[in-house]
Amino acid sequence: MEPRLEVRNITRAYGGRAVVRDVSLKVMPGQVTCLLGPSGCGKSTTLRIIAGVDRPDTGEIRMDGTVIVNQGVFVPPEQRGTGLMFQDFALFPHLSVFDNVAFGLTGTRTEKRLRVRELLEKVGLVRYMDNFPHELSGGEQQRVALARALAPRPRIMLMDEPFSGLDNRLRDGIRDETLSILKDEGTAVLLVTHEPEEAMRMADDIALMRKGEIVQQGAPYNVYNAPVDREAAAFFSDINVIRGSVQGLLTETAFGKFMAPGQADGANVEIVIRPQHLKIDFDRGGQGPAPSPEHGVWARGIVERARFIGKESLVEFRMEFDGSSLKATVPSVFLPKPGTPLWIAIRRDRCFVFPVTPKKDWRRRED
Ligand SMILES: Nc1ncnc2c1ncn2[C@@H]1O[C@H](COP(=O)(O)OP(=O)(O)O)[C@@H](O)[C@H]1O
Ligand SMILES: [Mg+2]
Repeated sequence: MEPRLEVRNITRAYGGRAVVRDVSLKVMPGQVTCLLGPSGCGKSTTLRIIAGVDRPDTGEIRMDGTVIVNQGVFVPPEQRGTGLMFQDFALFPHLSVFDNVAFGLTGTRTEKRLRVRELLEKVGLVRYMDNFPHELSGGEQQRVALARALAPRPRIMLMDEPFSGLDNRLRDGIRDETLSILKDEGTAVLLVTHEPEEAMRMADDIALMRKGEIVQQGAPYNVYNAPVDREAAAFFSDINVIRGSVQGLLTETAFGKFMAPGQADGANVEIVIRPQHLKIDFDRGGQGPAPSPEHGVWARGIVERARFIGKESLVEFRMEFDGSSLKATVPSVFLPKPGTPLWIAIRRDRCFVFPVTPKKDWRRRED
């Protein structure tokens, strides 16, 4: 299938500093792709270039196979068939809800009326048709903005952190509602966000961005469960890191041996595991469970702190073998007292082994 939107190798520098570097990504028809990354990594710049309010220095963008931007082509923003939605979605205050939604529509009065009605029904606001924006709540205004953006049937919706101005309490509901309306309209969506939960909740596909580059693109499940590197893993949750060095494709640790395919002898590696994938068992007179292929070797840790944090409990350990700390989360209430010895294992199917990359920031620090 032809991608609805295809961005190929776009680069953009401001004052000699590249803020978007060789970015390529695709959005398929009817799919929601999230451009996810920390603040300042170049997400909005990328979106502005796609919308046509900024130009790339190099690269190409295609919409349904047709070039809309490259060295020789520049299709103006209003001819790209994009719908836009930003955090400050500013409705026209002097226009009614109906007129706000009808604003970008062409066609006969009857056609417009039908389309506006259809959308206001979808967002559940038909009864406010004749009201003015200030008479609606924040969440309702957001829905009007969505209806307005969708009204001309854009080929793709470009959304830049559209939920970040909303109350936390409302946000989850509005996200889900927005998603179901977008799916119902069958619109392709490129949604920019810095929140991994939002991306996981909304996306069919996540493009993970860092320092101007896309480091990984894939289904949320894959990006979460097969991160390309330590930083990508850490972007989605707290992580534990265990260091080791490689001998004969294996790394020996207090938790047993880990496979380190492709790593040379003597290479330093980091074994990364999320807190929810540590296994915990009780101490039986100084002994832990027997090693197994699934869990490897168990190592003993002493509980430093345990807290209930809502859906789960967070337990922090000081490990006996090297004094390092590890964090584990356990569903429901599990609050062992500080000082309790427990045994910990690392699920072999849930850990990631990465080569150690030198950290520039860390080297530069004075202390
Ligand atoms: N018009 C501009 N001129 C100069 N620098 C800019 C401009 N727009 C963005 N930047 C810089 O580019 C970087 C990426 O910005 P942006 O794309 O807004 O990131 P994000 O949306 O991921 O937070 C930032 O360091 C920002 O300061
Ligand atoms: Mg931004």
